[in-house]
Amino acid sequence: MMELQALKNKFDIIGNSPALNYALTTAEKVAPTDLSILILGESGVGKEVFSKIIHQLSPRKHGPFIAINCGAIPEGTIDSELFGHEKGSFTGASDNRKGYFETVNGGTIFLDEIAEMPLGTQSRLLRLLQNGEYIKVGASQVLKTDVRVIAATNVNLMDAVQKGKFREDLYYRLNTVPIIVPPLRERGNDIALLFRKFSVDFCEKNKIKPPQLSEEAKELILNYRWPGNIRQLKSVAEQVSILSDADHLFPEDLIRFIPNNSTALNLSGGTASDFNSIGNELAIKMLIELKQDMNDLKRMFFELSKNTPSNYDSTSDSGDARILPTDRYISANRPLGGFAPNVIELPERSTTTSKQHQVDLLPENLNLVDMEKKFIVSALKKHRGKRKYAAEELGISERTLYRKIIDYDIEE
Ligand SMILES: Nc1ncnc2c1ncn2[C@@H]1O[C@H](COP(=O)(O)OP(=O)(O)O)[C@@H](O)[C@H]1O
Ligand SMILES: [Mg+2]
Repeated sequence: MMELQALKNKFDIIGNSPALNYALTTAEKVAPTDLSILILGESGVGKEVFSKIIHQLSPRKHGPFIAINCGAIPEGTIDSELFGHEKGSFTGASDNRKGYFETVNGGTIFLDEIAEMPLGTQSRLLRLLQNGEYIKVGASQVLKTDVRVIAATNVNLMDAVQKGKFREDLYYRLNTVPIIVPPLRERGNDIALLFRKFSVDFCEKNKIKPPQLSEEAKELILNYRWPGNIRQLKSVAEQVSILSDADHLFPEDLIRFIPNNSTALNLSGGTASDFNSIGNELAIKMLIELKQDMNDLKRMFFELSKNTPSNYDSTSDSGDARILPTDRYISANRPLGGFAPNVIELPERSTTTSKQHQVDLLPENLNLVDMEKKFIVSALKKHRGKRKYAAEELGISERTLYRKIIDYDIEE
């Protein structure tokens, strides 16, 4: 047997929790056999990954592997897809068709959401599991195939048996070796390891700087119930990496990407589907570009600021950004590389580069609201609470400033 860590490295598996280790060890043990395997676990825990591990560690590894989602194939065509059909066997069957059990001969088939398989298909599958025999739809000839079956479900199959929706004999046939893949919320610190891995991978790929979790943020992700499991964690880690401009993530940076607060703690129900994902690749690409631009800008401004030291008030002991008397400015209050100054003056418009124009397009999610609030606080501080001067410096009317002070709940 391969050492467990080597196995994890080989398949990019992150985590050290005992339940995960146990599942992996079981997978490794059953892999070399031809036994049918039933993988149990919630959506997004890694069931498909496990099916691939089993195939790869089996003597069939050079044979084909195919993953079929039984819940995604219409009831009327699933028999034909899996077992093939004879020309003319039903309306639309204009050709002979090979089924997956024929094309995957010598390999492994992963039947995901097996509980969704219609009863008729279950009978065909049972026969195939018992002696490798099957009959194409509309045919009479018995055919043979050598396919290993790995099935998976996120529902309680015994319930389905009791409701008459799943054949009991098939259940026992499949369930000889169950592998239980634990939900993410039961994996303890694996959650933090996975978050780190996903954000670092994503940031490396997109050439942005990976954020660090603060202790509080770590606490939050360790206690959240993660209804969508690893798939959800991956999505959150990636979204936070693009959308949060912080080097250090705090709970409020994460909470935006976590569905609703009532299910945020590891207490009640909630499903993967209430996870609010951006889901729009184009929007994500745009945001990545914006974030890269932001970083370029910061770097550029930092370089510029080194040449204009008089603009940086090194005697200021507060960490807040100061407002400078320019018509446009940007806060680099989150240091780049840990040593950028807090305030950087923008060059005159005449030296404006094409990238600068994009500052105008920055969406609110990049924390412009936060920045605005910080600017106002700084302006007020600088002018010792005198709104008239602070407003003047901010380039807004006193009334607008007054409204913003109330909106942002700024204490004077
Ligand atoms: N232990 C793990 N370490 C790293 N990534 C994982 C791990 N388990 C699952 N994943 C990833 O999580 C995602 C969901 O896994 P998947 O196998 O599709 O889940 P399921 O089939 O249970 O819905 C995939 O992107 C997979 O690569
Ligand atoms: Mg899946």
